[in-house]
Amino acid sequence: MSAQVIDGKAVAAEVTARVKQRVEALKSKGVTVGLAVILAGEDPASQVYVRNKIKKCAELGIESRRIDLPADVTMETMLETIDALNNDPAIHGILVQFPPPKQLDQEKIIDAISPEKDVDCFCDRNVGRILEGRIDGFLPCTPAGVMELLKAAGIDPAGKHAVVVGRSNIVGKPLAALLMQKNKGANATVTVVHSGTPDLARFTRDADILIAAIGKPCFITGDMIKPGAAVIDVGINRIATPDGKGKLAGDVDFESAVEVAGAITPVPGGVGPMTIAMLMDNAVRAAEKAAADA
Ligand code: GUN
Repeated sequence: MSAQVIDGKAVAAEVTARVKQRVEALKSKGVTVGLAVILAGEDPASQVYVRNKIKKCAELGIESRRIDLPADVTMETMLETIDALNNDPAIHGILVQFPPPKQLDQEKIIDAISPEKDVDCFCDRNVGRILEGRIDGFLPCTPAGVMELLKAAGIDPAGKHAVVVGRSNIVGKPLAALLMQKNKGANATVTVVHSGTPDLARFTRDADILIAAIGKPCFITGDMIKPGAAVIDVGINRIATPDGKGKLAGDVDFESAVEVAGAITPVPGGVGPMTIAMLMDNAVRAAEKAAADA
């Protein structure tokens, strides 16, 4: 049996079509959505991610402002840059691409961004609200993208056992929070497993919904999956190929997994496009809120 392959590009296109309508509605009221993206250094993967975000802004009529800082930028300059954007009414959302260069303190960067402009949903106030079940504000982009994918594929987490592999602040922890909410489209029983979990496959084999977000290429193999489970692959790992060009691989070994799972996301073309779509949604949310408060 071969699993249903969930088309993240198609679902992301539906989300962004709705976002575009809201961008246009704001424009008709004289508000142009503005998103600032800060990239420090020249990490090749970060360059690609930032380019894709800027491109998506242009497609949707969102005004992007890309700020490139040198790899040896000081914390002081980074904080000054963020402060200027916090005080700029044309900018509704601020994103600092992570990971930052080593000399910068990621937590201080997150703390410096105004919570009203924190479109990544990384700051303590916004993360705390998610834990409290207040999901009417910003949503964490990748976790929210996973929830949208499940919905689009007709997979209702209610009453199911969802196993999240990975406990990062960006994906694992907030995704566990979203899946366990006492809300429509959530209400799962959630287990989080990670690099410190002995015999991790014991848990993954019990998952009705298995989310792989551990950052290790092809870590989840077919024998670790319950037949018929929904498998969502959040991993984006660059791996070497014999021709030297390299390629992207998820955290799931797609070839063996697709034979066991009931539904599965590919890499690329699964979760990746959803993360950007949800970022655009948050940027518009920020502008709508700013316009309503004005
Ligand atoms: N680096 C990897 N994923 C992300 C993300 O979702 N947001 C930011 N700012 N940086 C990242």
